[in-house]
Amino acid sequence: MSDAPAPDPQLIFTYLHGLLRAAGLYLPTHPQTHRAKQTLFQAVTGYLARHGRLTYRFMGDLLVANDRILPRESLLYRRFLETCQEERGLGSIAFTEGLQEREIDALLEALTKGAGPSIVEWSARWRLTHLHLAPPTQPDRQSGEGVARRAYYGSIEVLRDIESMVRARRALTLEHVGTLRVYTSTMLEQMLQAPGLVLRLASIKSYDEYTLYHSVNVAVISMGIGLALGLPHELLRELGMAGMLHDLGKIAIPLDVLRKPGLLDAEEWRIMCRHPVLGADLLARLPGSNRLPLIVAFEHHMRYDGKGYPFVREGWRQHPVSRLACLADVFDAMTSRRAYKKAIPLDQVRAFVRDEAGRTFDPRLVKVLDRTLRIMRDRPAQVSA
Ligand SMILES: [Fe+2]
Ligand SMILES: [Fe+2]
Repeated sequence: MSDAPAPDPQLIFTYLHGLLRAAGLYLPTHPQTHRAKQTLFQAVTGYLARHGRLTYRFMGDLLVANDRILPRESLLYRRFLETCQEERGLGSIAFTEGLQEREIDALLEALTKGAGPSIVEWSARWRLTHLHLAPPTQPDRQSGEGVARRAYYGSIEVLRDIESMVRARRALTLEHVGTLRVYTSTMLEQMLQAPGLVLRLASIKSYDEYTLYHSVNVAVISMGIGLALGLPHELLRELGMAGMLHDLGKIAIPLDVLRKPGLLDAEEWRIMCRHPVLGADLLARLPGSNRLPLIVAFEHHMRYDGKGYPFVREGWRQHPVSRLACLADVFDAMTSRRAYKKAIPLDQVRAFVRDEAGRTFDPRLVKVLDRTLRIMRDRPAQVSA
């Protein structure tokens, strides 16, 4: 095993799934099953020798290892997660140091046949001391917020990765889009249960990595407005994806223009105004992304009254989703601190947005945003914009 890759929670979960597949194909005594069991056992004990504990939690579509969401594995093993939770009654698996081989046998039984009505009694019967199984838990509000925050920061990581790939002129993969979609869905699910999360998540800002945080905030605010409009969940998620990717074209803008600590001169402004077209161009080449993010990237600086940029032929109708993203975009930009301006207080932003109804923004959407903010603001200690 010395030349085997160092086990990490992702790889170990692959081994766990591999054992289950082997057990489904062969008898328990078959060498193939035995080998899969050995591989898992050695990987887990190797991990425990360094870290002491390894916990996997199944939370709906999400696989969490030691409090970290595993987006790729959540997608890959979706069916397995569903079986564990719904058919086997399992919500978490934890291994602790001292794990014995026979405890892997117990785990295999729990995963293939279930642990019966009482996991506690079943564990006692097996005399388990280093393997801890628990039923699925109902996500309470607190842990729901934790999940949403982890998904928020997970999205930042993916966007950072996308940015460095594009800068290095390497092709973006389907996995990037898939991972971003998992995080977006996770935030959306939590927002559906606790709409107050919209403002709490959108108040996470970064001065240094403005564009990344701004992109996730635009996703969150867009989904929040969409929620208030009662849009279907599938569309809400695509709205979130469009928000995540709306400023992708900024990657192609020179950093001295992008990070200039002051107002741009005419030439710099001309360069900056190209980011919607550049973004749409990048998205057209991105596998697995549907048309909505592309449309929003292209149209998010157009205005309700037909002004804005990029210039388009007369009679062009801005997509309703782009109008929504435009509002979310300006809202987040105004509530953020930049090198040349302070964050503007929420009340002033609301007043500005109301003033611009019918000019920059779709008046119907302004009403929805205003109502949403009022409701959320009425819940004290939840807003920290
Ligand atoms: Fe933009
Ligand atoms: Fe933006």
